[in-house]
Amino acid sequence: MDISLSFPDPLRVADGTFLIRPLAQAPGAPVAMHLNSMVIQGAEPVIVDTGAALFGEQWAQQVFELVEPEDVRWIFLSHDDSDHTGNLQLALDVCPNATLVTSWFATERMSGEMTIPPHRQRWLADGESLELADRRLVAVRPPTFDSPTTRGLYDSSTGVYWSSDAFGTPVLGLVDHIDEVPPEMLAESAMAFSSMLSPWHTVVDAAKFGRWVDRVAELRPAAMVGAHGPVLSGPSIDVALGRMRRLPDAPLAAMPGQDVLEQLIAMLDAPVPAPV
Ligand SMILES: [Fe+2]
Ligand SMILES: [Fe+2]
Repeated sequence: MDISLSFPDPLRVADGTFLIRPLAQAPGAPVAMHLNSMVIQGAEPVIVDTGAALFGEQWAQQVFELVEPEDVRWIFLSHDDSDHTGNLQLALDVCPNATLVTSWFATERMSGEMTIPPHRQRWLADGESLELADRRLVAVRPPTFDSPTTRGLYDSSTGVYWSSDAFGTPVLGLVDHIDEVPPEMLAESAMAFSSMLSPWHTVVDAAKFGRWVDRVAELRPAAMVGAHGPVLSGPSIDVALGRMRRLPDAPLAAMPGQDVLEQLIAMLDAPVPAPV
């Protein structure tokens, strides 16, 4: 039994800014996860992360309905995990005028899988900016991450902050906005997601960690979107930032163990009832 994958239409999150938002559900899993990426149109179009290779064909179809491949000027890579780099080679191949916005360390970490010509790279560290013709893009590391190369991206033109893996949550099905997730589920699932993403939260100093949260809060994003959840805007951003501040004091999230795997295998091996 394969992962079930749905590919809803891209969601407009701001002027000229669209979320590509495939939703994946593993066999037997009670919840689904987004594997999002983003397209920024405008004077110098940007692809923000490239999704997973598992769905390259559908990803390319949706992205290149929003922007012509020859017009793509930048491909921003938030970090080097495979659900963000999956279609990077594809994008570099079909977008001859695109420069990859990455970092020295991300390039090093990807060197076993792909070679990216230096002249197609631009290294952007946390806190640095990229000046485009119509906007400034600022790399701002989110408070939680699962790769040392992670930087989010703040768009000064629209106020959209791409949070990479941070501020995600599993969902029961497709929703556009995080306000559509039942609050009691969200309180638990968002915290558990953050804990699994960054299990080092149990050893960090809450005050120092809070200063990382401050950096995102000080952007005053109009919308916050990331790779693994619905869109946040308005009061939901403050709620998410407040929840993030409590992460250092939260217990480590429990993960499914061998017992769950055995249940899953039993479910997959169960005979399919004969049609009546
Ligand atoms: Fe990641
Ligand atoms: Fe991710």
